[in-house]
Amino acid sequence: MAIKKVGVLTGGGDCSGLNAVIRAITRTAIIRHNAQVVGIENGFEGMLTKEYMELTVSGTKDILTLGGTILGTTNKGNPFEFREYDDAGNIRVSNYADKAIENFHQLGLDCLFVIGGEGTLEIGYKFFQKGLPVIGIPKTIDNDLDKTDYTFGFQTAVQVACDAMDRLQTTGRSHDRVMILEVMGRNAGWIALEAGIAGGAHIILIPEIPYKVENVVRKIQFRKEGGSPFSIIMVAEGACEDGGDLITQATAMDRLQGVPQLGGVGTYLAEQIKKRIDLEVRTTVLGHIQRGGSPNAFDRVLGTRLGAYAVEAASEGKFGNMVALKTPDVVLVALKDLAGKVRKIPLTSQLIQTAEAIGINMGREIW
Ligand code: F6P
Repeated sequence: MAIKKVGVLTGGGDCSGLNAVIRAITRTAIIRHNAQVVGIENGFEGMLTKEYMELTVSGTKDILTLGGTILGTTNKGNPFEFREYDDAGNIRVSNYADKAIENFHQLGLDCLFVIGGEGTLEIGYKFFQKGLPVIGIPKTIDNDLDKTDYTFGFQTAVQVACDAMDRLQTTGRSHDRVMILEVMGRNAGWIALEAGIAGGAHIILIPEIPYKVENVVRKIQFRKEGGSPFSIIMVAEGACEDGGDLITQATAMDRLQGVPQLGGVGTYLAEQIKKRIDLEVRTTVLGHIQRGGSPNAFDRVLGTRLGAYAVEAASEGKFGNMVALKTPDVVLVALKDLAGKVRKIPLTSQLIQTAEAIGINMGREIW
């Protein structure tokens, strides 16, 4: 199938490597297929507001190393459930999907590349079910998307978290303190676990394993008695105490979006530890530093491979799929098989076994 004009958008939270994908799509579509490329701005919202930009080889030549997304992105603006305030200040939810489809056809596009995480890809799949030729490209620093070995953005975030750990190691050791690093990871602890292992954490707490403060303190006590009052803890924002709830920043909850903003588990943990052991405890929240900045080499390569492969799949009419990494290849998987699935770290994973084998405490009895 000849592709003449394709569209691309980025949705959901940004991450490093988005521009590498946009560049690869643009170059492959133009160099290989002589097609035009339209960038849709601010995720699906741009399909309603008709905010577009033409993407060219020369216009994308400097973006491989650039963080963020030149197209802009948003967590809001789902055309199927568009949330806005009415005149009385109440939230009104409307379905503008047909409007977006009309604009897609008005643009004369042969394909829509949807770069995003679970939520964005689900919207892409709904448009595919309504007849749009959609191809998904998996993105999230959390690495919690099913059917792909890795999402781009993840490895860069792990490196950022690992670098932060290295710095906390030296200051924590100098002061004989307990240092806590809170990293992102809503539903899955991939960043915490990988960066924790890479950064020499003594304790790693992830959403998959509810932790007991007593077990954490026991490990710190054990180290103290062995002559090392310094301990370093890596905690994912979505980690929960056994029997406890997610810790959210209630005041920062976005009413329109309706999704709670996580954050605060590191501070909570510090308070709990201080109550039980006479050591100084300090918390660092790494936050959006993990999402910003230049992608590392792995994410540049992965993003480029996914983008180029997506265009080839479109030229073969293979819509309704997501491009995915099944090491060593990039393959296609059906968007319908992804719906609602979050890829948590399996409790039987070698990564968890490795961590515990070398003595890292994961907040449970084994330590
Ligand atoms: O989904 C990726 C993620 O980085 C989560 O780990 C985190 O909870 C969320 O994004 C934060 O998003 P926001 O940009 O809305 O603060």
